[in-house]
Amino acid sequence: MVAGRPTWAEIDLDRIAHNLDVIRDRCGGHVQVLGVVKADAYGHGAVSIAHALARAGVERLGVASIAEAMELRQAGVTLPIVVLAGNYHQAEQLLQQNHLEPVIFRHEVLDALEASMDRNGDPLAVHVKVDTGMGRLGCALSEVESLVDRVQRSPLFSLAGVMSHFARASEVGPQTAQQFSEFTKCLEKSRWQGSLRHCANSAAIFADADYHLDMIRPGLCLYGVDPFESASDGRLLPVLSWWTRINTIRELPAGAAVGYGGRWVSRRPTRMGILPVGYADGYPWASEGRAEVVVRGQRVPVIGAISMDMTAVDLTDLVEVSELDPVALLGGDSGKAIGAKELSRWSGRLVYELLCGIGPRVTRVYRAGGLRQTGVLDLRVIQS
Ligand SMILES: Cc1ncc(COP(=O)(O)O)c(C=O)c1O
Repeated sequence: MVAGRPTWAEIDLDRIAHNLDVIRDRCGGHVQVLGVVKADAYGHGAVSIAHALARAGVERLGVASIAEAMELRQAGVTLPIVVLAGNYHQAEQLLQQNHLEPVIFRHEVLDALEASMDRNGDPLAVHVKVDTGMGRLGCALSEVESLVDRVQRSPLFSLAGVMSHFARASEVGPQTAQQFSEFTKCLEKSRWQGSLRHCANSAAIFADADYHLDMIRPGLCLYGVDPFESASDGRLLPVLSWWTRINTIRELPAGAAVGYGGRWVSRRPTRMGILPVGYADGYPWASEGRAEVVVRGQRVPVIGAISMDMTAVDLTDLVEVSELDPVALLGGDSGKAIGAKELSRWSGRLVYELLCGIGPRVTRVYRAGGLRQTGVLDLRVIQS
């Protein structure tokens, strides 16, 4: 029970290790794993997830920014960390000082790094990124060779990897294979040997084993969301479940309007429950009229507009229910569990967006090896 406002996300770190096993089974032992923990590990809590991944044996972590990497370093995470999103402006020194690995796609970025580096320090390990069709970051195919050469020749840098990123890996169609073919062509032209070639996110990992190369970069599938309908035959298990407790139960007569806009009106005498969760916590406003939650092992509908801090549900069909009963917004009793993809369909929001959007008011509670802890669970303290 979380005191005060009982709305919490339960994060099962044993499932992180399990999902990693499923992913490794798909790839074979020779493929390294970079666990993507940006955006607070997709809302799961970057520090606890990073410790869990380190314990489970991933080779690297990936974050979006230096600030995200620093949070991990300050929490004692020692794994190599790749800073994926390419923004190092005025923070270049932190990369070398903290052994963070930047993604490079322009000579100007190397210029800026060189200008700030301690020439007596360790060489900075970098990943050269090529744009094979994503159309975002990445150098042109024609520039890979010169960037790789410069990194290889400089005593200040070492080439940790050459990478690309797919734009449409979760879609059926020729685009991903075309991007991959561009990537392999430019690898043929550059002296990448001795570094890691990597391009596969979750969907690409399950789409085609060719894409695994030397290292994969799973995010979504580590958290137990299948990138396709059933690429893992149900073996990936959701890591996060989202809970609250019924705050107030009220009996309404037929004809009573509920919530902003009065869009839901009871057609029968109704037992309504108010839940202390709303769109400010990341529960999607746009799921009005479709969303369901699980109470006492049964699905019940959300009714009326989802407010900033409150959501109403119809409890009339439950035989028994009381205030403070736990309610699953995501996950819940296995037969009736609500999946992230279901909430995504109800709301029209991406699964990624939903997970990353579970707000800071939702207390994170961690489970691992029989332990349950609020805040951060550092698995290094548990004996293997
Ligand atoms: C460069 C890069 N690699 C890998 C990932 C992980 O993607 P996914 O969560 O689809 O596995 C991301 C996430 O956006 C990314 O930006």
